[in-house]
Amino acid sequence: MAYADLAHEELLALKAELEEAYGELKARNLKLNMARGKPGGEQLKLSLPMLDCVTSDGDLIASDGTDCCNYGVLDGIPEAKTFMAEMMDHDPANVCVFGNSSLNIMYDLVAGGVLYGYSGEPAWKDQGTIKWLCPSPGYDRHFRICETLGMELIPIELRADGPDMDKVEELVADPAVKGIWCVPQYSNPTGTTYSDEVVKRLASMPVAAKDFRIFWDNAYCVHDLYDETERRERVLDIARTCVAAGNPDRYFKFASTSKVTLPGAGIAAVAASADNIAVIRKRIGTETVGYDKLNQLRHVKFLKDRAGLDEHMKKHAAIIRPKFELVVNTLAAELGETGATWSTPNGGYFISFDGAPNTAQRTVQLAKEAGVVMTGAGATWPYGKDPLDRNIRIAPTLPPLEELEQALEVFCCSAKLATVESLLA
Ligand SMILES: Cc1ncc(COP(=O)(O)O)c(C=O)c1O
Repeated sequence: MAYADLAHEELLALKAELEEAYGELKARNLKLNMARGKPGGEQLKLSLPMLDCVTSDGDLIASDGTDCCNYGVLDGIPEAKTFMAEMMDHDPANVCVFGNSSLNIMYDLVAGGVLYGYSGEPAWKDQGTIKWLCPSPGYDRHFRICETLGMELIPIELRADGPDMDKVEELVADPAVKGIWCVPQYSNPTGTTYSDEVVKRLASMPVAAKDFRIFWDNAYCVHDLYDETERRERVLDIARTCVAAGNPDRYFKFASTSKVTLPGAGIAAVAASADNIAVIRKRIGTETVGYDKLNQLRHVKFLKDRAGLDEHMKKHAAIIRPKFELVVNTLAAELGETGATWSTPNGGYFISFDGAPNTAQRTVQLAKEAGVVMTGAGATWPYGKDPLDRNIRIAPTLPPLEELEQALEVFCCSAKLATVESLLA
């Protein structure tokens, strides 16, 4: 029976039962982690042979003659640009390949707006309060970039087809709104892929700020969990859609190989219009004398091309698909009566869990006290404040299956107990 329909005495009895089960789980002294979207050890092993692709007795010269051991080439060796352009569905001429972290590039480009501005407009630091649209639940590190740089974060409801576009269109009439975070395919944490209609509206909507930018973080563009075409989701390309709408400079597109090869040693790229790329190149030239070209070369030698990339991603999917299915099946078996809902993604790295209102903080606390670390409740919202205190991001990839099973047992018991406590309160 649904928890919400139980009588007071029934809830009290259920609470006692759950407390006993929780006590037993706590006594196991577990130390498990479902907090961050990290690949598990088996996944990392897939890319270790890459480390031998570039050896001291091998060919360390890029296709344009650049010695990858030396200084030079700010925006990526040609073969790395071609590779990332294929991954990002973009013209290689307008792709820059930088270091290991796309988040780093995003930070630099937001900071570039603050310090220098875009589209010939004054620097954002000289334009008063700057506002940023944050589809939520979303990626906590995106929100933190804007918060750290002093911006006002505005949560926007993330729906099944993308951000609430009526709200977005209303808010961009304010010239203080300079950007929006988008994870358009297999979104973090909900797994949402934006509909064509949403992408078209983002590209074509009238905006008051000439220096408005869509930060299109396509972090999960090749991260399908399933091979079947009908379960493979593909978002419309923002670049071509912006060009068609007459707004070619509106977007910055990002991707990296963090969850393709090695998160600590991947390659990351930004793709944009020719004008935006010119600005980025100029600014980066002040910041660095160039990124790790040996790693760029290593990636291309290892993955080769789009076909090689797709083959490699299938190996990841085979490892993590059972973990996602274990989570979704366990939640369905255990938590149906609590009123909770959750996403069943076809790709990406997360499952988004919505418990009963006012239970997320308590659930995470209970899980932590029983040895299972989850992403902090609220982290998926700007300022860490989930207005309904119900969303929890589940990251199933890091623990091996047996550990994941134990962690889920703790999580489900914690969520049930938190729900009963909340109903009794
Ligand atoms: C949406 C999103 N963007 C970016 C990142 C980080 O990417 P990178 O490792 O390239 O900095 C993550 C990592 O979890 C992510 O979920």
